[in-house]
Amino acid sequence: MDISVVGTGYVGLVTGTCLAESGANVICIDIDEDKVAKMKNGVVPIYEPHLDVYFERNIRMKRLSFSTKLEDAVDNNEVIFLALPTPPDEDGSADLSYVLGVARNIGKMMTDYKIIVDKSTVPVGTAEKVTAAVNEELDKRFADNPDERPDFDVVSNPEFLREGFAVDDFMKPDRVVIGTNSPRARKTMDKLFSPFVRQGNPILFMDERSAELTKYAANAFLATKITFMNEIANLCERLGADVDSVRIGIGSDQRIGKRFLFPGIGYGGSCFPKDVQALEKSSNEVDYDFKILKSVMHVNSEQKLNLIPKVKEYFGGDLNGKRFAVWGLSFKPDTDDIREAPSLENIKSLLREGATIRAFDPEAMENIKNKIGDVIEYADNSYDALKGADALLIFTEWQIFRNPEFTEIKKLLNDPVIFDGRNLYDLEDMRSIGFYYHSIGRAIIERG
Ligand SMILES: NC(=O)c1ccc[n+]([C@@H]2O[C@H](COP(=O)([O-])OP(=O)(O)OC[C@H]3O[C@@H](n4cnc5c(N)ncnc54)[C@H](O)[C@@H]3O)[C@@H](O)[C@H]2O)c1
Repeated sequence: MDISVVGTGYVGLVTGTCLAESGANVICIDIDEDKVAKMKNGVVPIYEPHLDVYFERNIRMKRLSFSTKLEDAVDNNEVIFLALPTPPDEDGSADLSYVLGVARNIGKMMTDYKIIVDKSTVPVGTAEKVTAAVNEELDKRFADNPDERPDFDVVSNPEFLREGFAVDDFMKPDRVVIGTNSPRARKTMDKLFSPFVRQGNPILFMDERSAELTKYAANAFLATKITFMNEIANLCERLGADVDSVRIGIGSDQRIGKRFLFPGIGYGGSCFPKDVQALEKSSNEVDYDFKILKSVMHVNSEQKLNLIPKVKEYFGGDLNGKRFAVWGLSFKPDTDDIREAPSLENIKSLLREGATIRAFDPEAMENIKNKIGDVIEYADNSYDALKGADALLIFTEWQIFRNPEFTEIKKLLNDPVIFDGRNLYDLEDMRSIGFYYHSIGRAIIERG
């Protein structure tokens, strides 16, 4: 099957590469010329575990190619995936200009039947808007010769992959959601995705609107679950309970489940914040007051800065001239993505208080540097960040931070003080090594 993917970000590049791995011929289109030049030279432009292996193999097998020209996506390819950005508009609703702009351009170019597959996260009703945008262009082009007007279907195929596990999630999805009422499109989509569900996970066919809402409902539910647990953690601190015990206590209930119950300094990333906001906005538009979502957004924005008052209190209310080591900048481990990362707001807040920062992240330093420049120092490795710092602050739970040499940390810091926004360490270990250790929803370990 010949397929094109328009937009080669975290979703588009993974989609294109994995579809090529299943035997399809895939062309990936992006307007970012540098990105396309890199990919043509065999360079994966994002950090995503295991992507490089499939990427390299499928380029070598000539099943995966790249272009900046939308014409290359439209010519000879029956299925066109749109994996374009849908960032928040000024009012919080999803900005559809990328999706509708490309749809319109497809309408200007197509000469035969196409299935336009919307993989971006888009509000309910977008499939209809895409259909209208394509039709508008076809109406203009084929006003005088309607018999030659090509047919098309628009399918909603929301993506549920997680950055950091994107390849595994695409290759073995829990489910594939396909929103379409067209039997022709359904048949093609079924064929395209059946190689990925051979172990029996379902391809769920539904109408376009339900598919669009399924994506928002999934992300909003997960954001709510993690936010609920963050509030339980805040309560644990005030009531003298231990959030790890409570987490295990509730997670063992199969109705609740163990996942997404780890408290921390809030969710970030390119999806949860914007999707919760966009769903709340969509609800408003149909006069529905989605109260939980408002609370989730409010709690999360406070939770992101949960550590700052604790740090301030420890240092007697004055951070001016204090120096902090920071571990972790990406919004979560195993990605270089820093969109809406809690690290950004924490760094801003610490700098505002007059502190200085030396930070380390295994993959996200270049992106942070591009965003905030030299307002902080960048370390060569985790230990290099520590030298002469008054405390270590942990913002992202990268695996390499989980089992460090604590004696080395103690030696390098001015004082053995750790504020941990991701609950990486065992409280008894911290006590026995002699750290002041403040985490989320757990007892504070005072230095002995
Ligand atoms: N990142 C995730 O984990 C994730 C997961 C599920 C769904 N989604 C959704 O998928 C969509 C894409 O997300 P992403 O994280 O891959 O975005 P991204 O910003 O990483 O990638 C988007 C790409 O589209 C390109 N682009 C922009 N305009 C274009 C145009 N006119 N023609 C061709 N290319 C164009 C950009 O240059 C960029 O490379 C969003 O709607 C997002 O909400 C993201």
